Amino acid sequence: MHRSPRDFFRPMALGAPEPIRAIPFPPSRMIHFFDPSNAKMAAKAPSIARKVDILLGNLEDAVAADKKEAARQGFIEIAKANDFGETQLWTRVNALESPWFLDDVMQILQAAGDKLDVIMVPKVEGPWDIHYVDRLLAQLEARFSLTKPILVHAILETALGVSNVESIAMASPRMQGLSLGPADLAASRRMKTTRVGGGHPGYIVRADPGASEADPRPTAQQDLWHYTMARMVDACAAAGILPFYGPFGDIRDTVACEDQFRNAFLLGCVGAWSLHPVQIEIAKRVFSPPADEIAWAKRVIEAMGDGTGAVMLDGKMQDDATVKQCKVALDLARSLAERDPELKERYQL
Ligand code: GLV
Ligand code: MG
Repeated sequence: MHRSPRDFFRPMALGAPEPIRAIPFPPSRMIHFFDPSNAKMAAKAPSIARKVDILLGNLEDAVAADKKEAARQGFIEIAKANDFGETQLWTRVNALESPWFLDDVMQILQAAGDKLDVIMVPKVEGPWDIHYVDRLLAQLEARFSLTKPILVHAILETALGVSNVESIAMASPRMQGLSLGPADLAASRRMKTTRVGGGHPGYIVRADPGASEADPRPTAQQDLWHYTMARMVDACAAAGILPFYGPFGDIRDTVACEDQFRNAFLLGCVGAWSLHPVQIEIAKRVFSPPADEIAWAKRVIEAMGDGTGAVMLDGKMQDDATVKQCKVALDLARSLAERDPELKERYQL
């Protein structure tokens, strides 16, 4: 048996705010990670916040065990001391099975719950994990008199999580989105990579012998992440939540990072993680649609009038479905342009 659909939007604790019905979609091109236990990074957080769409204080992996409490405390202090304006403030808490998760959530909601938009939960394996977080957040929202519900973002980074991705995405009205976690996922699946995201030169297909004189057996590298990313995008779109590509660990390889981000953008992701300032610029470039696509989208929409029927433009057939695609691009451009005068100019909006 399932809960009645009528109860889906009822608070899960007396005194908790009502769940929201539609997930907000402000600019979300990059989730910028920083380590709040690192004094240098923490000092820069307020100025970085002005350059990014989402600022995330990371408490989980990459923060050493003896720095966990300092990271949590550092995040709370930064959250309390700053007004982040339109930039969203997120945190990635430790995993549900860890000794830190409960204090991460309790202390952050108590001290800075009104500043926090989204909690990123790592290593989510099934809807049961989301149900637990859902009820706990409701209890803490009620306890600390929070008026805006905290949303939940899950990382898809275990084989079981991927197997359950659709039910994770649909588990709660708090679900804001999903990110691909290629590093943990590779380990969980026993993939033989030793990197954080991106391709691998060994993952290829080879042509039959004698395919061409110059190169008798040409090969093409394939994308290790395509299957998971496509499943994640479908699960998110079906649930009305937002998919993100995750981390790209080779900071110096800005070219491959851009390719990986662009594949994600083209497949339907709204953003990616940035682990270094150089990746902020890459994400901004990739996840803002190209100006010529926006000019084309405007042309198609205008030529299609009420959006039904068919016309030819430059020899290409347009119909109701191309109008819908063009509206996706144009809506995104409009939302980005609202906050960015340079993009407004570039898109001529
Ligand atoms: C991210 O957390 C990953 O494991 O790739
Ligand atoms: Mg991980």
